[in-house]
Amino acid sequence: MVFDAGRDDLIVGVVGAGAMGQGIVQVSLQGGMAVVLIDVQPGAAAAGAAKVYERLDRSAERGRLEVDAVAAMKSKLTVAEGFDAFAPCHAVIEAVFEDLEVKHAVYGELEKHVSTECIIASNTSSLPISSLGRQCAHQTRFAGLHFFNPVPLMRLVEVIRGPSTEEWVIDGLTKLGERMGRTPVVVRDHPGFLVNTGGRAFTTEALHILHEGVAVQTQVDAVMRDCAHFRMGPFELMDLTGVDVNYPASLIMHQQNSYDPRIRTVPFHKSLYDAGRFGRKTGQGNYRYDQAGKVIDPPSPDFLTDAAPAERVFVAEATEIFSDLLAGAAMAETDDGASPIVAALYGEDCSTFAARTGVDYRRLVAIDPTGDLSKRATIMTPPGADPAARDAVAGRISANGRAVVAIKDSPGFIAQRMRAMIGNLGCEMAQIQLATPDDIDLAMRLGLNYPLGPLEIIDDLGPPLAYRIMATMQEITGDDRYRPSPWLRRRAQLGLGAKVPA
Ligand SMILES: NC(=O)c1ccc[n+]([C@@H]2O[C@H](COP(=O)([O-])OP(=O)(O)OC[C@H]3O[C@@H](n4cnc5c(N)ncnc54)[C@H](O)[C@@H]3O)[C@@H](O)[C@H]2O)c1
Repeated sequence: MVFDAGRDDLIVGVVGAGAMGQGIVQVSLQGGMAVVLIDVQPGAAAAGAAKVYERLDRSAERGRLEVDAVAAMKSKLTVAEGFDAFAPCHAVIEAVFEDLEVKHAVYGELEKHVSTECIIASNTSSLPISSLGRQCAHQTRFAGLHFFNPVPLMRLVEVIRGPSTEEWVIDGLTKLGERMGRTPVVVRDHPGFLVNTGGRAFTTEALHILHEGVAVQTQVDAVMRDCAHFRMGPFELMDLTGVDVNYPASLIMHQQNSYDPRIRTVPFHKSLYDAGRFGRKTGQGNYRYDQAGKVIDPPSPDFLTDAAPAERVFVAEATEIFSDLLAGAAMAETDDGASPIVAALYGEDCSTFAARTGVDYRRLVAIDPTGDLSKRATIMTPPGADPAARDAVAGRISANGRAVVAIKDSPGFIAQRMRAMIGNLGCEMAQIQLATPDDIDLAMRLGLNYPLGPLEIIDDLGPPLAYRIMATMQEITGDDRYRPSPWLRRRAQLGLGAKVPA
């Protein structure tokens, strides 16, 4: 069978006129398609249509759309009452409540009226396509079409292949998504699909850093913005999406991924949830917010010191970043028994490094050599360290124009550890063939606004280094959360790029 997404007379059905249904109607109209919309609640479809008209009118007022074009779009939307109105549709997209039984009932009704050549797609964000499609009489034309909120602004759409979905359906939905002005990626049916799975690393690793007492929210957020170029830090993002959404999602995803420790959250996440501290919407979450949604008195992430900048440091583990960050200090190759000892560490904590090399841990100050260090640098010291050494090194870095974040001893600092985790999970997604390596990167950039896709992050670190960070973290923590994906290990061993196919 063939689905001609380009035909002039293409008709798309949308079931459910809520937030997502409205967005899908809008992008379908903007793609020149006729649309039939229904909702089970009396008046909801008409109200949804009115909201779509309003948004189209606003686009015309702002000069983004022609007035005539908007009039033509509006004339192509039919608000209907019953499922019989879907009879002429070439594809129907279901966007009703996230409830398996409600959705099954919708497909049962739909199949009574549409032809067997009509594609039926669900916009579900979490229900498996396999279980949604299982009661359909014609499962081969059933698939997922997962849009992101708000639909008109989020370009990504995941086309999800169920166990019985035929190729013409995948191809048809891909072209349909393109005609709606979206960027489709084809994804295998998997708990959380692609973007919601990949996004777990960012939130849960930040929570682990907090849980272990390594750093606090403002420090992690500042480092992820300044050194790793994320638009928002993980705790800011958690408060924006809402802990009432991301905590249950974390639990479900962990359970559905066979309790893979890579996506495990921490008890503090539950505490926020139990306390009703959902984030911006409740005025309190990781941060406190005023009525306008502005953060109230966030603690500064910066480590401030009046100490004189170090004049001499013993470089125990070298990297070229020191010549920049520590400019002005003499870089000694011998230990005079008094100067601070600096080391660039990868996946190793200060304690392990001191035990391995025999340097004096009391004067040891490790610096994260990864990421963008033009604005901010992260330093850490072991238990029992002499604060004077830390202060002198921090003073020197500050004198060179960088803010300093000082954290407790831990493998992988903040940015290094978070980026390696995000990349490693991306490698695992490639390994289990959730999507192609290019699509994994594309989806994570478009769906979550990441500055780089996870495999691009691995290439940015270099696969051997990323592998070393993960393997060392696993060894030190004894936690399989940090086990390197075989995808990463093989590419590191062979000197290949992260995107080289299997
Ligand atoms: N909101 C998001 O951020 C988001 C993102 C991606 C996917 N989704 C998914 O999209 C779907 C819809 O989400 P939403 O946020 O638009 O929900 P919503 O609550 O805003 O809207 C759902 C609409 O479906 C209608 N409805 C319920 N049962 C129906 C039925 N049997 N027949 C016709 N209409 C029915 C409701 O009256 C309501 O208007 C869910 O599956 C959700 O998981 C949501």
